[in-house]
Amino acid sequence: MNDWIGTPVASAPARVKHARLLAWVRDIAELTKPARIAWCDGSEAEYAALCDQMVASGTLHRLDAAKRPNSFLARSDPADVARVEDRTFICSEREEDAGPTNNWIAPAEMRTKLLRLFDGSMRGRTMYVVPFSMGPLGSPIAHVGVEITDSPYVVVNMRIMTRMGERVLDVLGDDGTFIPCVHSVGVPLDAGQADVPWPCNPQNKYIVHFPEAREIWSFGSGYGGNALLGKKCLALRIASVMGRDEGWLAEHMLILGVRSPQGDKRYVAAAFPSACGKTNFAMLIPPAGLEGWQVTTIGDDIAWIKPAADGTFHAINPEAGYFGVAPGTSYESNRNAMETLRANVIFTNVALTDDNDVWWEGMTKTPPAHLTDWRGQSWTPGCGRPAAHPNARFTVSATQCPSLDAEWDNPAGVPLAALVFGARRSDTVPLVTEARSWEEGVYKAATMGSETTAAASGKVGEVRRDPFAMLPFCGYHMGDYFRHWLEMGQLVAQPPRIFSVNWFRKDDEGRFVWPGFGQNMRVLKWIVERCMGAARARETALGLVPEYDDLDWSGLDFGASRFSSVMRVDPASWKRELDSHDALFARLGKKRPASLMRERERLARGM
Ligand code: GTP
Ligand code: SPV
Ligand code: MN
Repeated sequence: MNDWIGTPVASAPARVKHARLLAWVRDIAELTKPARIAWCDGSEAEYAALCDQMVASGTLHRLDAAKRPNSFLARSDPADVARVEDRTFICSEREEDAGPTNNWIAPAEMRTKLLRLFDGSMRGRTMYVVPFSMGPLGSPIAHVGVEITDSPYVVVNMRIMTRMGERVLDVLGDDGTFIPCVHSVGVPLDAGQADVPWPCNPQNKYIVHFPEAREIWSFGSGYGGNALLGKKCLALRIASVMGRDEGWLAEHMLILGVRSPQGDKRYVAAAFPSACGKTNFAMLIPPAGLEGWQVTTIGDDIAWIKPAADGTFHAINPEAGYFGVAPGTSYESNRNAMETLRANVIFTNVALTDDNDVWWEGMTKTPPAHLTDWRGQSWTPGCGRPAAHPNARFTVSATQCPSLDAEWDNPAGVPLAALVFGARRSDTVPLVTEARSWEEGVYKAATMGSETTAAASGKVGEVRRDPFAMLPFCGYHMGDYFRHWLEMGQLVAQPPRIFSVNWFRKDDEGRFVWPGFGQNMRVLKWIVERCMGAARARETALGLVPEYDDLDWSGLDFGASRFSSVMRVDPASWKRELDSHDALFARLGKKRPASLMRERERLARGM
């Protein structure tokens, strides 16, 4: 017996008078047939109760109260550990609006499929109604979504990652616009059937976007961007379409502030593909020798960028928390992240220590003598298996970050002086270059290639073209997206300068040549000094570059020959690189912008 039947929306808070919201919740309940409906208020008490319930059911494990207060470990199903790009669909009315880089299925066909999948998919479970705001509550640039989910793990993660709960219903009022997001793990429970700690559907996973209807449906996975629908699905795939239609940009970018020793402050947004260093860069601590500089964090994954009245682009971080990669995070590589993680964290797929704390590869140089690995199995150093999954993550509130920028919650956003595009390339791409024009910058971002990481299921380490680090996140035709970027540059009097960086060049022995992490401050300093008109650059075929003496080397022993090895441009590799740019443009067909083709010719002539 479903106790909501007959009074399907009776469990809604009495003051919810939003007819469309109530009708939609009733429709989804009638389709998915849950045992209960719970409207989430976003309170601390609700969060604590859900965590307790998940501890009891085995979904969460409570960590040591002294070492990691109010923190939990979740272990996912080993088959549900990352975004599933091959199961992600953009169902625009016309196939050409999804473009060659997205999976497309006709909306009518997909809706038929979804109705079949979701029919009874929440049987035996609680259906949670999760109102959330991407961006500061009530801000004119924020957008509201409502996620319906049968996963309590999703609810507690959404509470950290977004502004969630009753306050959002107040913003919505009787008639506010919201983006409907439906999520089911796709494992109905029949009478008497026991649940598992991490339900997911191994046969059927669908992450579906209807760009015209501005609707999201996700089935079969409980992990990350597949299930926390405010993040990649709403704030990037749907928002990118809204940005195309309304004249703004939704980007896979961190946002940081840089303050010079003289107190001069600039804001920078930077796009890197998944697991390529956004969180690290957003929380950078200047190294010895550059102590007078300060970096502050606005966001680590997503930026919404809009033309502002002052003639610049302003950016906001639509999120309220970090869903960050755990492996590789340490006091050496990212002290701010480690401090952020001291309490109130949900860890997913990291290892458990014998004293009930967490560990992951790279957290300490010497691993503990014994661990329980991310699958729940006994682990010892040298056993041949990683202790944490390479895409293990932490979910934590932005407000806990010591480097949080004072403006992070400002509804007006912050003005951008520079845009940085980075990728993971062991060769070919130099440490840093500056574009001579908006068009050249757009060309470089559009043709970015990166070695794939564990953030998406599939092969790791292959170079693929990942335009603007948005390949899996652009909700429309990549050729139209390039054109939109070219046009956006015309909309403001002072567009940001555009830079390309690569922290990942390797030597013949396969070691990173550039020390990276805090040392990236040397490159960031040059970038903001270029914006301040205070640093020199030399013109090359690939754009403007610093000479060895143009970077500040105080406190670091990094000689001119190593510098030239990370800056080197090898003509033979660039010939191959340009050929693969051509392969990308060929896929875009007649939608490839003519001005980018001109940039391509100019680059080839310069080589
Ligand atoms: P998503 O959350 O997936 O979008 O990724 P992200 O870009 O925020 O990834 P994150 O900052 O967590 O980077 C994760 C990986 O990048 C870890 O393996 C880090 O060790 C590595 N990394 C970050 N910065 C640097 C760097 O400057 N140099 C090198 N060599 N590795 C880095
Ligand atoms: C990414 O993969 O770029 C992430 C993690 O930021 S997820 O939320 O799973 O998309
Ligand atoms: Mn990301």
